[in-house]
Amino acid sequence: MKTTTFKKYLLGIFSLLLVFFAGWTAYSEQGGVIQIYKNANTPFDDAKSIQSVLAQPADTVLVRTRYQGGLFRTETRKDKVERYKCSQCHNNKSVSVARAADIAHGDIKLDHGGREKPLSCFTCHNKEERDSLETEAGVKVDMDHSYQMCAQCHFRQLKDWVGGAHGKRVAYWAGNRVVKSCVSCHDPHSPRFKKRWPVTYSPPFKK
Ligand code: HEC
Ligand code: HEC
Ligand code: HEC
Ligand code: HEC
Repeated sequence: MKTTTFKKYLLGIFSLLLVFFAGWTAYSEQGGVIQIYKNANTPFDDAKSIQSVLAQPADTVLVRTRYQGGLFRTETRKDKVERYKCSQCHNNKSVSVARAADIAHGDIKLDHGGREKPLSCFTCHNKEERDSLETEAGVKVDMDHSYQMCAQCHFRQLKDWVGGAHGKRVAYWAGNRVVKSCVSCHDPHSPRFKKRWPVTYSPPFKK
């Protein structure tokens, strides 16, 4: 009987210590809730200092387009593109196979630009350095920043995207705002969404 109460005492003291330690680590931890709370009282100079307080979301890059709301981020793409790096194969070695492009990229169906002015592969991809994209003016664009390449033709959608009216926000509101990139939603090769029926009809009204 006595030993069990003693054990209960020990357990009680042990859990008290545990709670104390957990609290202390949360308190002293940089960037923890308490830290953010404390920092909330110090005024920010600009969006950059907000960035240093909030945790950096993984797999994102700072968008290079300026915006009155400050800096914001978009998801990286190079880690999601299956055949990146393109230079694994596009390395200036000659290809002896016939119809090699069909074999390598037969899955890509280009349907972009309409019947009168269809785009070609090299409207967007850099011919010499296949890892990069390119604008029609010949400016190289990093694949993580493909929105810059889309922007040359779809400047209205870009403006809406920058302001947050087109696309989707993934995390935060200010400073570290993270949004989906154009190509997270639109297949660059066939960007129009297919028309489709609703999965189900509305159930009939019950009287
Ligand atoms: C597994 C090898 C391989 C990888 C990886 C690869 N390619 Fe290719 N690609 C080829 C081959 C082979 C051809 C046809 C020969 C040629 O044009 O050099 C080709 C052709 C092309 C063409 C020309 C198509 C045409 O119809 O003329 C483009 C554009 C292209 N690749 C873009 C890319 C891009 C962009 C990437 C990276 C995201 C990439 N490729 C990755 C093998 C590859
Ligand atoms: C409107 C611009 C545009 C055109 C035209 C275009 N591409 Fe692309 N392509 C892109 C972008 C942007 C990406 C990167 C997509 C991403 O981030 O998911 C890409 C990705 C690719 C990839 C990598 C796909 C993967 O997931 O591995 C290949 C291969 C490729 N393109 C080949 C081609 C070929 C071949 C053509 C011509 C038949 C072509 N592209 C035409 C913009 C374009
Ligand atoms: C060189 C110019 C050019 C570039 C670069 C370009 N597009 Fe397009 N895009 C067009 C044209 C032209 C159309 C056809 C417009 C139409 O049919 O009304 C089009 C159509 C579209 C559509 C369908 C519009 C609709 O009415 O449903 C989407 C979505 C789209 N593009 C997204 C993109 C994305 C995303 C990128 C970048 C990866 C991109 N485009 C790059 C010229 C371009
Ligand atoms: C979260 C997903 C998402 C993102 C990110 C996104 N779009 Fe769209 N986009 C859509 C949807 C949904 C539509 C409406 C399609 C429809 O009505 O069939 C659309 C429509 C369009 C159209 C057709 C014209 C219009 O305004 O309705 C173009 C062009 C276009 N987007 C380009 C872009 C470009 C360029 C970017 C990046 C700067 C981008 N989109 C980012 C989902 C997205």
